Amino acid sequence: MKISCPTQVPDLAIELLTPFAKNLTLGDQLRPSEEEVLELTQGSDAIYSLLTAPITRKVIEASPQLKVISNMAVGYDNIDLEAAKEHRVIVCNTPGVLTQSTADFTLALLLSLARHLVPADRWIREGAFKGWDPSLFNGVELEGKTLGIIGMGRIGRAVAQRADAFGLKICFAQRGSTKEFPLASGRIAKPLPLEKLLPQSDILSLHCPATPQTHHLLDRKALSLLPPHCLVINTARGTIIDEEALAERLSQKALAGAALDVFEKEPEIHPQLLKLPNVLLAPHLGSSTHTTRRKMAQLACENLIAVLQKKEPQARVL
Ligand code: DGY
Repeated sequence: MKISCPTQVPDLAIELLTPFAKNLTLGDQLRPSEEEVLELTQGSDAIYSLLTAPITRKVIEASPQLKVISNMAVGYDNIDLEAAKEHRVIVCNTPGVLTQSTADFTLALLLSLARHLVPADRWIREGAFKGWDPSLFNGVELEGKTLGIIGMGRIGRAVAQRADAFGLKICFAQRGSTKEFPLASGRIAKPLPLEKLLPQSDILSLHCPATPQTHHLLDRKALSLLPPHCLVINTARGTIIDEEALAERLSQKALAGAALDVFEKEPEIHPQLLKLPNVLLAPHLGSSTHTTRRKMAQLACENLIAVLQKKEPQARVL
């Protein structure tokens, strides 16, 4: 049985996979190229991947006995699903275990952006603070504002519940959903078509997966529907927003600010975004807590092992 991990993986994964593999092949990089992944994984029965490993058609076809690709992430846009389907390879992911940490981080970005926390921290370190001043870094009050959520899955709903506690009104766009979502305060989150949601959003937060349908969902035209005071938060995937168009609107002050944890060509950041003071940047940290990362590593192992033992995995994409 060959199990391959084409990237560096957490120690816990090595510990849990070792008893099941005659041959456990481990990569020593975080961001291998397709060729490097291919070299490491060919002839595998199972692949344990991070979202930084491209699991392409070529990679899948180089392992004719491949049974499972288990991604240590809820997203799986690094995997060629068509090729996996064609070759009857099961694809697994790690939903659920990262919901709370990602929703927490979304609120952290929202609050930091709305209250200028990062520029204020920089400013104080530069020695500019001379004492209390009523006009210093005035921010946006959340109570009564509208949060538009795109993608009302587990994470979108967890964000809605947290935002509800801050007094935000919630509406959401979710393909195929017309069902209202009740919130702890007694208020209701309302489903809206995207073109109606965007103009109403004082804050917009993205929680949909990266698929061909959501690629540049926020393109130039969609971005132009947002009000100029809107704050945009993205903890989902960079490809959902046309980054060039976003940078343009932010520079023109046609949008008030953005907090981005994910980028279109990660780890490259659009040069314009790096220059803009109304943009908060984070290096893809949404699920990054010790607890969640352990749970992700464990669930990805359990999924992989279940398939090799001919059992149903807990989280299956295909
Ligand atoms: C995922 O799981 O898809 C996140 O982007 C990383 O945790």
